[in-house]
Amino acid sequence: MRILSVVGARPQFVKLAPIAAAMKGRADHLIVHTGQHYDALMSDVFFSDLGIPEPDFNLGVGSGKHGQQTGAMLTGLEEIFEQVRPDWVLVYGDTNSTLAAAVAAVKMHIPLAHLEAGLRSFNRRMPEEHNRVLTDHASDLLLAPTKVAVDHLSREGLAERTVLVGDVMTDVLFRTRAAVEARGEAVPFGMSPGNYYVSTIHRPDNTDDPDRLKLIIESLAALDKPVLLLAHPRLVGLAERHGLELETGSIRVASPLAYPQLVNAVSHSAGVVTDSGGLQKEAFLLRVPCTTIRPETEWVETVDLGWNVLVSEDLASLTSVVQRPAPQPTDAAPYGEGAAAQQVVSALLR
Ligand code: UD1
Repeated sequence: MRILSVVGARPQFVKLAPIAAAMKGRADHLIVHTGQHYDALMSDVFFSDLGIPEPDFNLGVGSGKHGQQTGAMLTGLEEIFEQVRPDWVLVYGDTNSTLAAAVAAVKMHIPLAHLEAGLRSFNRRMPEEHNRVLTDHASDLLLAPTKVAVDHLSREGLAERTVLVGDVMTDVLFRTRAAVEARGEAVPFGMSPGNYYVSTIHRPDNTDDPDRLKLIIESLAALDKPVLLLAHPRLVGLAERHGLELETGSIRVASPLAYPQLVNAVSHSAGVVTDSGGLQKEAFLLRVPCTTIRPETEWVETVDLGWNVLVSEDLASLTSVVQRPAPQPTDAAPYGEGAAAQQVVSALLR
């Protein structure tokens, strides 16, 4: 069986890693990189560090407005699909690369499988929410990471196409944590263990409005420990445009980290402050308290179990929320035990 994975943005490379490994010896697996993310630190390091094979195709689409970026991908993917004629197109998560591949596949009557199906923020301001809802409804096979995701899909009439496979990011996180621990890597940037926070901010709702971004930066700057701000290119660009200095107060600005170094940095930190989806869950799995600068989350289990607190409207409370006492320990495993990728491949082969 020939399976064609389409990826393009950083979180998708992380999800691709365990899938590519699980495909070995079980399916003929090809990879398309749309080129949505193209900086070495946003793309190449993930392939090299996580042992992902070189993509078979790279569209080199790059940045642009939603329509322009998605349209360029659609045009490029159609040609590749014609050439490869896969038995399945496998798409990941909720980016513009996901939606472009979904549209290209359904138009060509190629079976479409969506990994990480059924997540919902119910916030129609987010481009990711449009992407995931449209992709789920176009897909023939919905590979859901959690029980909550399965329930969302059932409510939308998609139960018959849904399989609960678990969360592949848990697979790669556990494997990477073991490798990092075995190597005994030092905490990045000379931070002292347990005495710093890790932060990432990149969502349009937090970066595009200068007043909001200013408040977020001021709150991070006022924290009681150094804040390692791993700055996404969008944040760097917009802070510059808004005339905002990122490196103030407690904030230490650094480039985005490669995945093993990110896992190492988070696992030794006192807390995470982020608007990323994946990082909320990674913090929970590493049992590090997380504060999420968003009005809602797709990973509701992290909040229900007390390890993640959402702050959005009341940004004035951000500093004190981040400095809250650690939550009650838990051994709950809502994201599975780290064996989801094999389940994904089995579902595709079935
Ligand atoms: C995309 C995804 C988001 C995901 C995020 C992870 C969509 C709609 N959003 O958002 O779900 O959480 O990736 O990072 O697909 N840029 C660079 N170099 C790069 C990549 C981006 O400089 O390698 C800059 C460009 O100026 C670009 C901006 O960052 O305009 C935003 O990039 P884009 O891929 O459009 O969206 P993300 O914010 O990264």
